[in-house]
Amino acid sequence: MPPRVSVLGTKKHWDSVYAQEHLNYRNNSKDLGECWYSDSDAEEKIGQFVLDHFKRGKTGGLCDLGTGNGHLLLTLSKMGLLNSNMVGIDYSQDSVSFATDLVNSSSDDQYTGICFYRSNFLLLNDQFLNKSSARFGLIIDKGTLDAIYLSTTKYEDGKRSGIQIYPARVASMMKPAGILLVTSCNFTAKELIKTVTKDGIFKYWTQLHYPVFEFGGFKGSAVNTIAFRLIDR
Ligand SMILES: C[S@@+](CC[C@H](N)C(=O)[O-])C[C@H]1O[C@@H](n2cnc3c(N)ncnc32)[C@H](O)[C@@H]1O
Repeated sequence: MPPRVSVLGTKKHWDSVYAQEHLNYRNNSKDLGECWYSDSDAEEKIGQFVLDHFKRGKTGGLCDLGTGNGHLLLTLSKMGLLNSNMVGIDYSQDSVSFATDLVNSSSDDQYTGICFYRSNFLLLNDQFLNKSSARFGLIIDKGTLDAIYLSTTKYEDGKRSGIQIYPARVASMMKPAGILLVTSCNFTAKELIKTVTKDGIFKYWTQLHYPVFEFGGFKGSAVNTIAFRLIDR
């Protein structure tokens, strides 16, 4: 696929989005910010998938990559997932501040155990990445690979794009046989599978089902969620 460039691929954009969402929340505590792919009920489908596949919601440690306002973790928690070791990471400090504030200012204790950290997990010298070797049984990405795809930032001495190094970085944080669940609106299911499995680090496992539309002879869904398994090495 040819590279695409968009403001959605810049940290500056996400900083301003979450700074604004935080401000809105301070003015109105019912305003929790934007929930990506809510039209497709993506969070509820992800939550149901996790409850169906992990006994009593025990994931062996869950990380939400590019957590934004942390909405997904709050939803999973409300759906009954055990909170222990539920971590959201994001390279935007504004995202981390807002998500942390949402959890800390909640009147009940249902969100205790959810933590947020600033991290650009694509950077080899990232502190969180380096402290999180083989730490998570489940890593969830909702819209973050999409944003990385739209970024022009290069890594490893300017030689490799974010999507090229994504599988290896994510895998380094996973326990053996860990699951990666990626939700995207940029990639078709086929493209998403190719992007994540091309290095032989992950293999396709299964996918979640969304309503299918047909247009100009092509069939597809607006959103895809694919589950991958870490390959044993
Ligand atoms: C489309 S938003 C999705 C946010 C959230 N997952 C949701 O579903 O609402 C993409 C998120 O990825 C974060 N992000 C993009 N590149 C990142 C990177 N390299 N490391 C960490 N976070 C990143 C952005 O700051 C933003 O919060």
